[in-house]
Amino acid sequence: MRLEGKVAIVTGAGGAGVGGLGVVYAHALACEGAAVVVADIEGEAANRVADDIAITGARSIGVRCDVTSEDDIDAMAQAAVDTFGGVDILVNNAGLARGKWSEAVVLSAEEWMEILAVNTVAPVRCAVACRESMRSRGGGVVVNQSSNGALMDAGSYTVSKLALNGVTRVLADELAEDNIRVNGIAPGMMTAKLPEKQVQTLLARQTVRRQGQPEDLVGVLLFLCSDDSSFMNGQTVVVDGGMARSPKQ
Ligand SMILES: NC(=O)c1ccc[n+]([C@@H]2O[C@H](COP(=O)([O-])OP(=O)(O)OC[C@H]3O[C@@H](n4cnc5c(N)ncnc54)[C@H](O)[C@@H]3O)[C@@H](O)[C@H]2O)c1
Repeated sequence: MRLEGKVAIVTGAGGAGVGGLGVVYAHALACEGAAVVVADIEGEAANRVADDIAITGARSIGVRCDVTSEDDIDAMAQAAVDTFGGVDILVNNAGLARGKWSEAVVLSAEEWMEILAVNTVAPVRCAVACRESMRSRGGGVVVNQSSNGALMDAGSYTVSKLALNGVTRVLADELAEDNIRVNGIAPGMMTAKLPEKQVQTLLARQTVRRQGQPEDLVGVLLFLCSDDSSFMNGQTVVVDGGMARSPKQ
């Protein structure tokens, strides 16, 4: 129970997409003792996840929050304060990933702004919204969900996540005066729902010869959210079975 008494917010934790990493993160933080605000643009999905967590005896609420809306972000942070007394941990997990977002050269300016708004700018705005509460409680932790795609070539997604790694470094510097640490996790492909052919291609690029599961990220998440990482700031940890360093890319 490393996070006993702490309050955590996880964005994009409604499980409305295919990866569902935010759901696993929300449950893991609750298991470690934190009260959890489950935030998602799909409000009903957020509520369902929060209800599932509450069944285990942990404290949790669901909040509808579009992370591109300043009003929604402020309301999310306020809900944590009103319900649980403040915010200690923010996990910026919401992100746009697949499909058209890979096509960097064909994206319109509007589409570019959309992916950057969700993947790169929203984590800053969420951190700013939580800052005063964290400061008043003596400090806090922000974890940004990056991707090993930041280290490879995956179009606009790469750009957005590489920029997010920069956000992690810059926020670590700018929020240090309030004792807020900011680090990131860069997962590889963490889902069991891929076609077999694609799975084999991915495994050939990894040095760990098995498919990654969302649960493979939990150890690093809890490390970064707890005092175990108290001397670490501004870093993004790659957890991808060795894919990004593979010479076979
Ligand atoms: N799944 C993977 O293999 C993988 C690998 C590397 C990085 N990531 C990153 O992990 C994060 C989660 O990925 P996932 O695969 O679990 O995604 P997912 O699509 O399963 O879940 C994303 C959630 O974010 C929500 N969301 C989308 N836009 C939002 C917005 N504007 N405001 C609030 N919520 C919004 C969706 O409703 C959904 O519930 C993303 O940042 C993604 O880039 C995922």
